[in-house]
Amino acid sequence: MSKIIETNDVHLYYGKKEALKGIDLDFNEKGITALIGPSGCGKSTYLRTLNRMNDLIPGVTITGAVKLKGEDIYGPKMDTVSLRKNVGMVFQQPNPFPFSIYENVVYGLRLAGVKDKATLDEAVEKSLKQAAVWDDVKDDLGKNALALSGGQQQRVCIARVLAVEPEVILLDEPTSALDPGSSSKIENMLLELREKYTIIIVTHNLQQASRISDRTAFFLEGHLIEVAPTRELFTQPKHQETDDYISGRFG
Ligand SMILES: Nc1ncnc2c1ncn2[C@@H]1O[C@H](COP(=O)(O)OP(=O)(O)O)[C@@H](O)[C@H]1O
Ligand SMILES: [Mg+2]
Repeated sequence: MSKIIETNDVHLYYGKKEALKGIDLDFNEKGITALIGPSGCGKSTYLRTLNRMNDLIPGVTITGAVKLKGEDIYGPKMDTVSLRKNVGMVFQQPNPFPFSIYENVVYGLRLAGVKDKATLDEAVEKSLKQAAVWDDVKDDLGKNALALSGGQQQRVCIARVLAVEPEVILLDEPTSALDPGSSSKIENMLLELREKYTIIIVTHNLQQASRISDRTAFFLEGHLIEVAPTRELFTQPKHQETDDYISGRFG
């Protein structure tokens, strides 16, 4: 299986504080990897290194290598706009733009210069279907996205990411602000998307990690302690710290 993302000895500093202490972790194409670990261990920071979202934070220094299909994403030739299109991101708090559902979904396509109405319409329907929110919104695509429920907003945000046809989708605790019904819709959707996309999800919900992920990586205090097929990590962890964390002894 070919690797889509490779990270090698990644260190990240916020000013002088070292938040990532040498992360080596690779991702194959397709499937779901869950990043778990106690609050503050560096999960979100690591996730953001994969599409250069940390660039937006002042005082950040990153060393080591992050490669997308063999290309250094921190290299001088990398265009961060197209990088973030190819490696899309979904946040904990749904963040739709304050305009219609339709315009939210086509946002990236319009930026890319797509004007043909049939093309845009088709992308809207396809993305909203993939994000399992089409039936909720198809009769009123002109409605302001902010008027939707939190769970619907989050699925529209996922549709917005899907519309630009990324290869990798990063999700940072995408269901932790949502009710159980919405969370389970998103989990089921991710299980369908895993066939087509490389999905990396941060979750503090161990049940969620075990329900949906193929592989789990356990972080602790800026280190990657271990990564293994999810079932194996939860049943036969190789490290005492992993065992302590998954059995609820801390975190
Ligand atoms: N913007 C920031 N500026 C300074 N320190 C930060 C910033 N974001 C995160 N940190 C620190 O980096 C460490 C890792 O944080 P984070 O990646 O958010 O952890 P997690 O997502 O696992 O809870 C924590 O100690 C946190 O306080
Ligand atoms: Mg976090």
